[in-house]
Amino acid sequence: MIALLSRAARDKVDIWAKRLQAAMPEEQVVIGPPHRDWPGDLSEIDIAVVADPPPEILYELPSLRLAQSIWAGVDGLIAAEAIPPGVPLVRLIDPALAEDMAEYVMANLLWLHRQHPLYARQQREHRWQQHHQVRAPGRHIGLLGAGEMGRAVARHARAFGFPVTAWARTPRTSGDFEVLSGADGLRAVLAQAEILVNLLPLTPETQGILRAETLALLPAGAAIISAGRGQHIIIADLLAALDNGRLGHAVLDVFPDEPLPGDHPLWSHEKVTITPHVAAATDPETASKIIASNVGRFRRGLPFEGIVNAERGY
Ligand code: NDP
Ligand code: OXD
Repeated sequence: MIALLSRAARDKVDIWAKRLQAAMPEEQVVIGPPHRDWPGDLSEIDIAVVADPPPEILYELPSLRLAQSIWAGVDGLIAAEAIPPGVPLVRLIDPALAEDMAEYVMANLLWLHRQHPLYARQQREHRWQQHHQVRAPGRHIGLLGAGEMGRAVARHARAFGFPVTAWARTPRTSGDFEVLSGADGLRAVLAQAEILVNLLPLTPETQGILRAETLALLPAGAAIISAGRGQHIIIADLLAALDNGRLGHAVLDVFPDEPLPGDHPLWSHEKVTITPHVAAATDPETASKIIASNVGRFRRGLPFEGIVNAERGY
């Protein structure tokens, strides 16, 4: 039996349960704690579909064999030690999610590239002043993370003609952009990134990766788009770099504490654009089909993508 375990609002959980059941008519999908909708025994559950599950709940499922996240990032589950040892955790790999992310990044990337923050300031001052516009091939994009999200962004950025250099754990040439790795690779990516896009997963190695020392490596006036996780950036260092002119602008979708507290200085900073963790939201319809495929392959003992490597943390 498959149980959906989530502390999200009941109406959202109901939509998910319906979609999952429709995608897997041969399975019984139930809503587990805290919105429990069936009177059965927790020992009947062998697969958990999770999004912010109640703490410890997975340890109460003696027959659990698989945990499938409906989020791409599983840092929260790992940090909370929500998954019992020995139970494989699967993250969501959904091409629709990656396309949505690419759309979010490209919207902001083009807005930054075409100097809209500057023109918005001029508009507030009723100032008519034209600035030289660099063409896309002359604007270097740095990408932290070249996974499902990063590759989709790189594809769209390359289609516009932007040169892209990415940073990942494994160095490679991916299509028509280079992927560097290690400390030297990071320095090289940062040194040429006029627009830096952060799409890393949060792990002990990537936490705080954007701090004074690394921000100082970016070209003067560079912009950042961050949709990975809030803990990647030391916010005090980001604010200092924006204030001293080292950075031109930051577009932030993710924050160490979400929701971002109402009195946080980021809200009113002239050089900061905030979105409330909406870059790419899981679509129950597309994701349910992917989860159904994973479940089907798991039941038949076939391999499938997305199993989290506990050692790497993503
Ligand atoms: P993937 O696992 O597919 O890709 C992760 C990338 O990061 C890989 O290229 C990986 O390298 C690289 N990486 C991981 N650790 C390191 C490290 N220590 N040093 C260098 N590179 C590293 O993840 P996704 O692309 O699917 O998702 C990335 C993140 O995006 C998620 O974890 C989540 O935090 C965030 N996200 C945010 C959303 C939003 O709405 N804001 C929506 C969806 C995701 P390698 O290729 O060598 O393995
Ligand atoms: C995700 C997210 O990880 O929405 O899927 O951040």
